[in-house]
Amino acid sequence: MPHGAIALAKHAPKSGARVLDLGCGAGDTTLDLGRLVGPRGTVVGLDACEASLRLASDAARAAKAANVTFYTGDAESSSFDGELSGFDVVFSRFGTMSLRAPTAALRNLRSALKPGGRLIDVTWRSVDPHVRRMLLEGAGFTEIAFEAIDVQPRGESVGSSSWIITATCPVCPM
Ligand SMILES: C[S@@+](CC[C@H](N)C(=O)[O-])C[C@H]1O[C@@H](n2cnc3c(N)ncnc32)[C@H](O)[C@@H]1O
Repeated sequence: MPHGAIALAKHAPKSGARVLDLGCGAGDTTLDLGRLVGPRGTVVGLDACEASLRLASDAARAAKAANVTFYTGDAESSSFDGELSGFDVVFSRFGTMSLRAPTAALRNLRSALKPGGRLIDVTWRSVDPHVRRMLLEGAGFTEIAFEAIDVQPRGESVGSSSWIITATCPVCPM
C-alpha cells in the first residue's frame, strides 16, 4: 500500500531506533520498519487481533526478522510499560482510525514514547484534522502537523488520499 511506504520514505526512523507499530495487522509495515532500524534497532508490532498477529509472526519468521516482536493488546487498555515503553517512534498505518476511545489510546501512545519521540500516523483523508489535532493536544502531543498525500496509480481513474499526521511527545510535559 503506497501511503505507508510514502510515510516511511518521508519520516524513516533512524538506524538503531526502537519503534512501535500500532495496529500492525499482518505485519508488513512492521517488517519494513525492522529493515529501516537495522539489527541494532527493535520493532514491536501491537494489534488487538490475534489472527492477524499469527500471520505477522509467520511472515517475520520467513523473513528471518530477528529484531521484530509482536504483542496482542488493545491500544486503549494495554499497560504501556516494560516491552511496550521507551519508543523513539510510534508508527501506524491505518491503525488509529477505528479507535473507540481515541483519547485514551492517544494518551497511552504518548506515554509509550520517550520524551522527544515522534508519532507518525497514516490515516485516510476522511479523518477531520481539526478533531484529530484537538485529540492529540488533549493527549499531550506537541508539534502536530498534517501532510496531505494523494496517490493516483498510473492508468487507473480512482486515486486515494491520506494524511501523514506527525506529532511529538514533549521533552518537558506541560
Ligand atoms: C485497517 S487495519 C491496518 C492494518 C495494518 N496497519 C496495515 O496497514 O495493513 C487496522 C488494524 O488496527 C487494529 N486495531 C484497531 N483498533 C485497535 C486497538 N484499539 N488496539 C490495537 N489494535 C487495533 C485492527 O485489529 C487492525 O489490524
